[in-house]
Amino acid sequence: MKFLKEEFKDFEPYSSPLITDGIILNANESGYLPPKKVLDKIYKSLSNIEFNRYPDMDERLLNKAIAKHYQIEEENVTCGVGSDELLDTTFRAVLSPNDLVLGFMPSFSMYKVFTKLSLAKFIQVEPDDNMLFDVDKMIDKMKTYQPKMAIICSPNNPTGQYFSKDDVRKLIEASKNTLIILDLAYIDFAKEDYTKIALEYDNVIAFRTFSKALALPSIRVGYAISKKDNIDLINSVKAPYSINSISQIIAKIAIENYDSYNDQIELIKSQREFLFKELIRLGIKAYKSEANFIYVLMDNKYYEELLKNKIYIRKFASTIYRITVGTEEENKKLLEVLGCVQVK
Ligand SMILES: Cc1ncc(COP(=O)(O)O)c(C=O)c1O
Repeated sequence: MKFLKEEFKDFEPYSSPLITDGIILNANESGYLPPKKVLDKIYKSLSNIEFNRYPDMDERLLNKAIAKHYQIEEENVTCGVGSDELLDTTFRAVLSPNDLVLGFMPSFSMYKVFTKLSLAKFIQVEPDDNMLFDVDKMIDKMKTYQPKMAIICSPNNPTGQYFSKDDVRKLIEASKNTLIILDLAYIDFAKEDYTKIALEYDNVIAFRTFSKALALPSIRVGYAISKKDNIDLINSVKAPYSINSISQIIAKIAIENYDSYNDQIELIKSQREFLFKELIRLGIKAYKSEANFIYVLMDNKYYEELLKNKIYIRKFASTIYRITVGTEEENKKLLEVLGCVQVK
């Protein structure tokens, strides 16, 4: 990478394996297609697309549908090519070289990448022995470092920890001069959705995605909710026309029919509890999760056996893994394979 600038010397191309066969439990995707009602509407709508025109640059109809869903104003919403694009844009818009970003780790790996792309510095807050993060610990570090930005991912990817609304509020209120990045990619699977807390304060942006509970990672759409000033900040840096017309229409249909996802979301939540109990029963160290995945510590032999059976989970290190909750059938197959492994 001869022309790559010096500061990015240790960057490597981001890659994810293309798996077309087997049980895919490595990317926190939904094991289900969107509900039939949603799919039918999507197929019908495609014939109305004006392929010869640019998409609506301000994704007005989609923003309007999202605003209606939350009963908020359109000026408080903006969309991006996945929440990835919105996070990237926000980091670039806010951070100058050597600014500080505070965040729990392990968490979503892109936070560190986006920090680095802005030539800012990431300060991490570690979990306790039970992999639990403490908001008070982050607040203490906030007071010490006065960071430009602090990130909270709830439920946290990959550990599954959910932060209560009160904890999030405490963090937001700890410093008016720190922008709080509230990543709620998995909040549909948790106790309470508190996205609208972002409209109560000037210093918080909530990030949401269509990629997880709404089962649409293929269309690459995410959205941010915040006070108008912060939405303007994102829109002033975001690339024009980034979300194509097809994705805009599909996302609009999905959010307008959010209630039709309730059954599959409930199913994933109950399968998560089933999987958790069964993993513990097998003697695997599993962490309580409020997302659609479970963080586990287990011998590498389990992983090898899953691979042999074409069951793919996410590996972080030789004993650290994340398992996406699949369909009932997929989870049973996973447990069957794990149950046959002799560790000692
Ligand atoms: C915590 C978290 N935030 C954001 C994203 C990005 O999601 P997308 O770009 O698909 O909206 C992911 C993807 O896995 C994630 O885990």
